[in-house]
Amino acid sequence: MVQTDIQPASPNLTNFDLKSYLEVKKEFVEQSIDKSLPIQEPEKIYEAMRYSLLAGGKRLRPILCLATVELLGENENIAVPTACALEMIHTMSLIHDDLPAMDNDDYRRGRLTNHKVYGEDIAILAGDGLLAYSFEYVAQETVNVSADKIVKVLAILGKAVGANGLVGGQVMDLDCEGKSDVTAQTLSSIHRRKTGALLEACVSSGAVLSGAKDSDLQRLSTYAQNIGLAFQIVDDILDVTATSEQLGKTAGKDISAQKATYPKIWGIETSRVKAQELIDNAIAQLNIYGEKALPLQAIAQYIINRTN
Ligand code: FPP
Ligand code: MG
Repeated sequence: MVQTDIQPASPNLTNFDLKSYLEVKKEFVEQSIDKSLPIQEPEKIYEAMRYSLLAGGKRLRPILCLATVELLGENENIAVPTACALEMIHTMSLIHDDLPAMDNDDYRRGRLTNHKVYGEDIAILAGDGLLAYSFEYVAQETVNVSADKIVKVLAILGKAVGANGLVGGQVMDLDCEGKSDVTAQTLSSIHRRKTGALLEACVSSGAVLSGAKDSDLQRLSTYAQNIGLAFQIVDDILDVTATSEQLGKTAGKDISAQKATYPKIWGIETSRVKAQELIDNAIAQLNIYGEKALPLQAIAQYIINRTN
């Protein structure tokens, strides 16, 4: 856990109406994503890209980006292309993760996986198409932000995706499959890359677009690192405690694929306690912002309470 200056918690956090907040933001994100990728020639690939991009999901990554911009007092419109790009990157990583060469999964977000519908060849290309388009979309569509900030955002996205981010985390994850001696430290370094890097990019890109000071960037990055790890611990817990219907994907996959997980190393109860510690720390990072931090703090708490 990473700690910086901690201030007392806001008493308003428990009263914050996160459900309404998420509903409004999710609807806005859905519309923005829908508009971002119209069908064109060759239709087959655009359909495959849209099939996964518009398959629902929590839209947590774009919402984190938009909420960061609002926390820093800027208009969320400056970050809409970046928010869409973050969802494109996340979606492409799931399309590739589900491929037979990787996790070989049949269901995602409550529907058949991309390769089950379009075939492996198109699924690979749909992922590639989404990845390339995410960068194009940020560069092309971001308005009212200086070019140097946009370049910084593109660098943040590239770093989160690359060999020390999602790609590296996935490689380490695949390497650990079937091994019984994976330590909590190794597991954390996998998830820092596989899950944490993109979550951190969500808040740091929002912060850069908003012209944040280094101290704000540091606090927000620490917040994201903590929620990233907690998110993965909860994911591992849900894999053993939730049903496939609740998850929209096959439950119990970690055990059948012999994946290293936190419940396997610590047990479920200790995993829950560690996740809550991380969330408490994430929330504390943002107390300095007062009421403005409530959405991001409530999202942190939601990460641990979620059932899918
Ligand atoms: C889900 O993990 C997968 C990820 C979070 C990312 C996987 C990353 C890749 C496939 C690399 C993608 C390539 C690029 C270029 C970004 P999980 O299998 O633990 O969770 P699940 O149960 O939801 O499948
Ligand atoms: Mg998987």
